[in-house]
Amino acid sequence: MICESATVHPTAVIGPNVDIGEGAYIGPLCVLGAFAEHPTQYTKPKGRVVIGDGAVLTKLVTVDSPTDAITIVGRDSYLMAHSHVGHDAVLGEGAILACGAKVGGWSSLGNFCNIGLNAVLHQKSVLADGVMVAASAFFKGNAFKMFSIYAGVPAKYIKDNSVLIERLKHEGVLDDALVFTGKRRTRSPQAGD
Ligand SMILES: CC(C)(COP(=O)(O)OP(=O)(O)OC[C@H]1O[C@@H](n2cnc3c(N)ncnc32)[C@H](O)[C@@H]1OP(=O)(O)O)[C@@H](O)C(=O)NCCC(=O)NCCS
Repeated sequence: MICESATVHPTAVIGPNVDIGEGAYIGPLCVLGAFAEHPTQYTKPKGRVVIGDGAVLTKLVTVDSPTDAITIVGRDSYLMAHSHVGHDAVLGEGAILACGAKVGGWSSLGNFCNIGLNAVLHQKSVLADGVMVAASAFFKGNAFKMFSIYAGVPAKYIKDNSVLIERLKHEGVLDDALVFTGKRRTRSPQAGD
């Protein structure tokens, strides 16, 4: 189902198994719900692709069908050109994928994760809320520490994501004890930012 308030560019290719939320924007040449990039699953689409409310996929973004149940781009996420969300991956709220960022299949990202230019997440990677992966990094495994930054090949922890912590606090999304307040951090163009 595509919500009426969503905007889908006429050149975007949207599979029948794709749900697009309120106020989402799907830009030119995005491909959503194509077969999973998987040697034995590429002709067997199952499950659904969900693009959350207010998510923005600027252009040339691919989000693949799952091999099982679901691939999710969380609400208010911002996915830039040539970024890719692999099959069965789940991106939390407010994810940012910079140009060329690749999220391997079955990966799981918490809320407000940020994947830098051309960074790569190995399949089944797990990132806690607020984790950033630096530009050109190769990340494999788990980053359970919230608001941490990983960089390099292979990616290693370099420091805390204090800029994001301060920003989310300022916006009232995070309180002083680093607990999410439930306030939405909207980035939908329809919402005026
Ligand atoms: C990770 C990042 C946020 C760090 O920026 P910063 O807070 O200004 O930190 P610094 O540049 O001072 O770097 C801190 C350390 O990490 C290293 N580092 C920073 N970015 C790195 C990267 N991408 N790969 C490897 N090492 C990196 C620096 O060399 C430095 O090392 P040192 O302490 O040994 O000197 C930034 O470099 C980055 O990759 N941003 C993503 C940019 C992006 O994709 N933007 C999208 C635009 S559309």
